[in-house]
Amino acid sequence: MRLVLVGPPGAGKGTQAEFIAAHLAVPKISTGDIFRANVGQGTPLGVEAKRYMDAGQLVPDEVTINMVRERLAEPDAGDGFLLDGFPRTLPQAAALDKLLADLGTQLDLVLELVVDDDEVIRRLSGRRQCRGCGKIWHVEFDAPSQEAACDRCGGELYQRDDDKPHVIAERLKVYSRDTAPLVDYYGAQNKLVGIDATGPVEDVTVRAIDALRSYG
Ligand code: AP5
Ligand code: ZN
Repeated sequence: MRLVLVGPPGAGKGTQAEFIAAHLAVPKISTGDIFRANVGQGTPLGVEAKRYMDAGQLVPDEVTINMVRERLAEPDAGDGFLLDGFPRTLPQAAALDKLLADLGTQLDLVLELVVDDDEVIRRLSGRRQCRGCGKIWHVEFDAPSQEAACDRCGGELYQRDDDKPHVIAERLKVYSRDTAPLVDYYGAQNKLVGIDATGPVEDVTVRAIDALRSYG
């Protein structure tokens, strides 16, 4: 299955992507994770991306599309994938359609995680991520047993630079201006299904998998 997850920052895309990708046995491809890995390694791509990420802005389409094109050409993405955080502009969506059409295929479904801004702010301000395994925690909603260590791998937990209040506000603005139009774009292709992404993580996963079943 070729699936896209869309939704505002903090909607739970990364959290749900892990479960859904495992359920579908497809690779999870997160552009945010790829950019953060490049930032961590200090690659030229990371140096360029960091400027935009720290300001809550999108990395330019051309850079992002080229990166995704290369990732989708890897053998593990041949039979399906779950894209988390891409596309998030109309030009990225059009580029993805073209890329897949050139490969003789297309997206099956776009799953929209629906949550309001207040919930987004609560989720992002309490988020912590593991430097070791990448697992996403929350100080209140999914708290590790020790404040700064990952229960899964013992790795150090950190707060993302873009989870500061003024950057969160900018990311929300960018989402409604640049990414929200994708809902209509994929709606017109009859590929969009929206689910309520509030409530416990497990409940959202059940709703997501039900939605895949009814459309798959
Ligand atoms: P990216 O990493 O994609 O960030 P985002 O879209 O802003 O999404 P987040 O990762 O912040 O949130 P999420 O929806 O994954 O939520 P999560 O599961 O962590 O992008 C970062 C930056 O990279 C962008 O700003 C941009 O600069 C650049 N970039 C990336 N892709 C790009 C692209 N295509 N084009 C251009 N630039 C791009 O959950 C959040 C918190 O809530 C966690 O603490 C979690 O534990 C908690 N939580 C999750 N579910 C629940 C629940 N049901 N109940 C309670 N808490 C929950
Ligand atoms: Zn870990």
